[in-house]
Amino acid sequence: MVSESNGTAASAETYHQKAISSLKDGSLFIAEAFIDGEWVKKEKEFDVYEPSTATVLGRVSNCELADFKAAISSAEKAQTEFWESTTAAQRGAILRKWNDLILANTDDIGTILSLENGKTLSEAKGEVAYAASFVAWFAEEATRAYGDTIPSSTPHTTVLTFKEPIGVCGIITPWNFPAAMITRKIAPAFAAGCSVVIKPPSETPYTCAALTKLALQAGLPPKVIQVLPTKDRAAATELATNAGVKKISFTGSTGVGKMLAKLATGTLKRASLELGGNAPFIVFEDADLDLAAEGAMFCKFRCSGQTCVCANRIIVQESILEAFTAKLVEKVKALKTGPGLDPNTTQGPLVNKSGVDKTAQHVQDAVSKGAKIAIGGSAPEGSGFYFSPTVLTGVTEDMLVANDETFGPLAPIFTFKTEADAVRLANATEFGLAGYFFSKDIGRVMRVARKLECGMVGVNTGKISAAEAPFGGVKESGYGREGSMYGIAEYQTIKSVTIGNLNL
Ligand code: SIN
Repeated sequence: MVSESNGTAASAETYHQKAISSLKDGSLFIAEAFIDGEWVKKEKEFDVYEPSTATVLGRVSNCELADFKAAISSAEKAQTEFWESTTAAQRGAILRKWNDLILANTDDIGTILSLENGKTLSEAKGEVAYAASFVAWFAEEATRAYGDTIPSSTPHTTVLTFKEPIGVCGIITPWNFPAAMITRKIAPAFAAGCSVVIKPPSETPYTCAALTKLALQAGLPPKVIQVLPTKDRAAATELATNAGVKKISFTGSTGVGKMLAKLATGTLKRASLELGGNAPFIVFEDADLDLAAEGAMFCKFRCSGQTCVCANRIIVQESILEAFTAKLVEKVKALKTGPGLDPNTTQGPLVNKSGVDKTAQHVQDAVSKGAKIAIGGSAPEGSGFYFSPTVLTGVTEDMLVANDETFGPLAPIFTFKTEADAVRLANATEFGLAGYFFSKDIGRVMRVARKLECGMVGVNTGKISAAEAPFGGVKESGYGREGSMYGIAEYQTIKSVTIGNLNL
């Protein structure tokens, strides 16, 4: 396994080259777009970086607006000419095969994912399994798309409902989960009978291309999936406004989500928006503190703090502040920062320099207003997009980190006196994606779970993400639900059929 990465150009090249040549199936490392059933190399390309060395990993086809228009029209044809009339059983079988192929290629996809995103190989492989779990889940859901028979108020009449595919879906995904955010959107789309046009993140396009190759290998008809890497911001606008696209699904910032929602209203497209979070993580004095510290580590430092459901504000009851902080700092001290593919690394770099800058800005702002650094607090010298895992104490509501998602390895600790204070502090944000709390009191568990204004609550756990659990937010964290028994409905319409004058 690759372990050297001291930031010089030569060693960076070795790091990339060794990793890429270690792939069992090198043909999964693809720099092309996939349009109208063909892999297409565009004349214009853009650089993709490897975050631990901050050097170029490769150059990928940069699609233009005309490519998006062509892809949408090809996907529309595939949708109406054959894909929507396949049976749910046929689509389920393709998804099952795709799931198997993804799992069989875990090592390669994990390596590619780690190289372009920076997360550790073990996290990357975990993400591959997580990504496959959505494919497996929706393979089963495909055949559960039941309609209803509804008693009619008119004599000799019956009302039926059919679940139908909504049509071509525009899919815009983020770089923090280059595999799972794709499958969480497109597996239910395929299960429902929709074709998709994907704009993968420009930071991490290789994972999407590898997944696409495996989907085709599993028997997905080529024009049902179109993949267009690009740096052109107009691409998202095209997906949100083109009348051929019937639904958009976006995971990313609240600002971009709001813009896409506005654009989508022009053609009354359906939208699912999984946007920013500012998750509270409350530790009550009756909590199991070891469990809480373990939960905080997973929930804060997973993907180096770059998840929408990351604990952004750790809110601790005053009486246990010292004990909890000591446990958390001890665990943070044990983290080993380094390149994702180094087997000793437990904390990878951030995806880019702006992630490092934002984390530094949050630390500086908090410290300038009185917070104290318990551990970490700065970006280490040298190359690579690193920021030391950090814990701040004495954090208050006037600091940037109280209101803005850091998206980096920064755990800021706030304090509270009463349960009512904790709930008020937790809800004092326009975001409402995830929230967490730790308590052994069942009455409090039920009360606080209801009072938290968010779409997902973790109680005595920092892990809430799974194929079977509905994923999505309230308030300015967006709308729509992914995964779970509800996820497929985002890609279906309900048609009612009233049959009258029956000889009943
Ligand atoms: C996200 O951060 O957008 C997704 C995180 C998850 O699925 O757990």
